[in-house]
Amino acid sequence: MCGIVGYVGPRGSVEVLLGGLKRLEYRGYDSAGVAVIDDQGALGTRKHAGKLRVLTDDLGATALADGGTGIGHTRWATHGGPTDENAHPHLGDGGQLALIHNGIIENFAPLKEELVARGHEFHSETDSEVAALLVGEAYRETGDLTAAMLHVVQRLEGAFTLLAVHAGQPGVVVGARRNSPLVIGLGDGENFLGSDVAAFVEHTHRAMEIGQDQLVTIRPDSVEVVGFDGVAVTPKTFEVDWDATAAEKGGWSSFMAKEISEEPEAIAKTILGRVSDGLVHVPELDALGDDVLRGIDRVLIIACGTAAYAGLVGKYAIEQWARVPVDVELAHEFRYRDPVLSTSTLVISVSQSGETMDTLMAVKFAREAGARTLSICNTQGATIPRESDAVIYTHAGPEVAVASTKAFVAQITAMYLFGLQLAQARATLDDETVRGLVAELQEVPEKLTKVLEVGDRIRELAHWMADTRSVLFLGRHVGYPVALEGALKLKELAYIHAEGFAAGELKHGPIALIEPGQVVFVIVPSPRDERSLHAKVVSNIQEIRARGARVIAIAEEGDVAVLPHADEVIRIPLASPFFEPLLAVVPLHIFGMELAAAKGLDVDQPRNLAKSVTVE
Ligand code: F6R
Repeated sequence: MCGIVGYVGPRGSVEVLLGGLKRLEYRGYDSAGVAVIDDQGALGTRKHAGKLRVLTDDLGATALADGGTGIGHTRWATHGGPTDENAHPHLGDGGQLALIHNGIIENFAPLKEELVARGHEFHSETDSEVAALLVGEAYRETGDLTAAMLHVVQRLEGAFTLLAVHAGQPGVVVGARRNSPLVIGLGDGENFLGSDVAAFVEHTHRAMEIGQDQLVTIRPDSVEVVGFDGVAVTPKTFEVDWDATAAEKGGWSSFMAKEISEEPEAIAKTILGRVSDGLVHVPELDALGDDVLRGIDRVLIIACGTAAYAGLVGKYAIEQWARVPVDVELAHEFRYRDPVLSTSTLVISVSQSGETMDTLMAVKFAREAGARTLSICNTQGATIPRESDAVIYTHAGPEVAVASTKAFVAQITAMYLFGLQLAQARATLDDETVRGLVAELQEVPEKLTKVLEVGDRIRELAHWMADTRSVLFLGRHVGYPVALEGALKLKELAYIHAEGFAAGELKHGPIALIEPGQVVFVIVPSPRDERSLHAKVVSNIQEIRARGARVIAIAEEGDVAVLPHADEVIRIPLASPFFEPLLAVVPLHIFGMELAAAKGLDVDQPRNLAKSVTVE
């Protein structure tokens, strides 16, 4: 939520900042702006409401005097609507200082009153301008941007990443973070700051983590980090393990189309290096140790949105394989009740970005309550894994489209690896059973490549349904979270009413929604399933069809029993029950994307959303 980039070095900073903002735009696209200190030591800013291209076009038409020091911002509006005035940067010290902010300054109201009483005028409705004016005042007193920022962060409450430059100190960018993301990019004779490594990965792969309540000062040839108490800290460096091309569209029509095509690879890479002699060994779980795994008496999965649906799939698998009770809870709900936790509770957070504020706060809360914490995360250097006892990284690669797709299947895969290793540690499955499940999991990427071939048929269906106002999704067992995921994708991408239901719940109310022509996607369990779930779901289909529903079934190859009951059948390859979600969800991802495209909507950047939700 809000993308931030900072640069000091020998190049023209406008180009570097715009390149970084382009890669960060998925974090928010309500407005964008830059501030640059030119070669004469003057500060210039340019900012506009609307997507980044409005700013880029303006800078193309009338260039900003350039220099090697600058900051850039792409906004997801919180305080104040998406206007030119509310766009960042905001100015302080009589226009000598520029500041950008990600997060929410919770005590901005009293601070604003104080500043107004001292004669300051506000030009925006944002909480961020308070920080710009305060840092400007502090600079006047100290004559040093680092000292000024250090002074002001003590007074701010809430979540923030702040970057500032001052005309009096060319060649210096100062950043500060509390509960909001910031990473450092280390170049040769140049340095970078970014909300995530995408901001600078085209220039350097060497990066440095910056912790909570820390402040960083970058110059072309130095990086200094101190805590908010002023004491120097030595941050951890890491290498970014993906290339700038991985975050480019290539020849695809959208990032989402590209990322759906990468779902098989996301699963394969998440398994890679974590299977030995047919059994699971996730090296990162060594940080917890087998004794801890054996001692767990309860697992609680916390996440939001799509990541929570991956968690729900994980619940079914972990409980069945490792015989431990598993609950799944939305992070924002968990945090504000009074959950019962103990040292034998394992809290697993699932997050693509690793920065979702609701999830981060829930992890901190769980740790403080004494629980063990494991993070399943797709983003190196992110905050949630750093706040957890152990992390299993998903290796889906950078996900740029706002709607999550490849991260979802990678998260489920990581859950499965965890569930199997837990079952091994607790001896709830014998080695042969685990080997069989692992071998099947390893076959999923190839099967999924076949599923991707249904894309053309789904595009036709989506075009036919472009005016549809409501779509329902039904599933049972692990098909239920898939139904929830299918519905979420349609809401966020195509802006139409969509609901996912557990098929068995239908008769308890939702069946009243069915009227002639209502489209219902049904995820049909395998007819080979021992619990006869297939027959139950086919009965559910008959019930809704009798009331006029148009049924699109997602069913395995060779399932002829479903044919008389469905208007359309989308086939997926044979797999045992736990691997069906990985295959069944992809047609739904494609459908969400194609329906949005058929309606002429922006598939990668749906309205009102941002990729990384770093405010509560
Ligand atoms: C939906 C989607 C969101 C995210 C949710 C959690 O397509 O992308 O529902 O899944 O905001 O985000 P992360 O996984 O970054 O914590």
